[in-house]
Amino acid sequence: MVRVLNRWRVAWSLLIVAAVPVTAPAAAPAADPAKGRAVFAAQCSLCHSNAPNGPVIMGPPLYGVVGRPAGSVRGFHYSQAMMSAGFAWTPDRLRAYLPAPRSYLPGVKMTYAGLKNPSQADDLIAYLATLH
Ligand code: HEC
Repeated sequence: MVRVLNRWRVAWSLLIVAAVPVTAPAAAPAADPAKGRAVFAAQCSLCHSNAPNGPVIMGPPLYGVVGRPAGSVRGFHYSQAMMSAGFAWTPDRLRAYLPAPRSYLPGVKMTYAGLKNPSQADDLIAYLATLH
């Protein structure tokens, strides 16, 4: 009897899991790279160039950053923490890093408090992905 009940529970939770994706995308608006460009201008451009072969400002240029190994722009003097991060910048990594850079990678020298608004972060990451 217990077994049968458990089966029902499993069946119900599978049904619920299956039903959620049908409604979820409508609730989450798609990331907008045009809005992300404005976020970049307001929050990142003080320290980062977005131009191909752009200059070092306070930080390394971010053209092509999505897919690039962390700490890999030649001529930029990275912190040890950034050089030994050991990953490439994917949208998920950026989503984890940007809200609190120095908690995500202790020892990095990006003195930026963090981008706390998740939809602004999604817009910004969509914009960064266009820089190729
Ligand atoms: C006050 C200056 C400053 C601001 C503002 C700033 N950064 Fe940075 N950023 C840096 C510095 C300095 C580094 C290098 C960190 C290190 O080596 O520890 C860096 C590194 C990075 C890296 C790693 C790049 C690589 O080549 O591995 C990314 C990604 C990044 N910043 C994204 C952003 C984004 C996106 C914004 C805007 C939301 C932003 N930063 C705002 C100074 C800044």
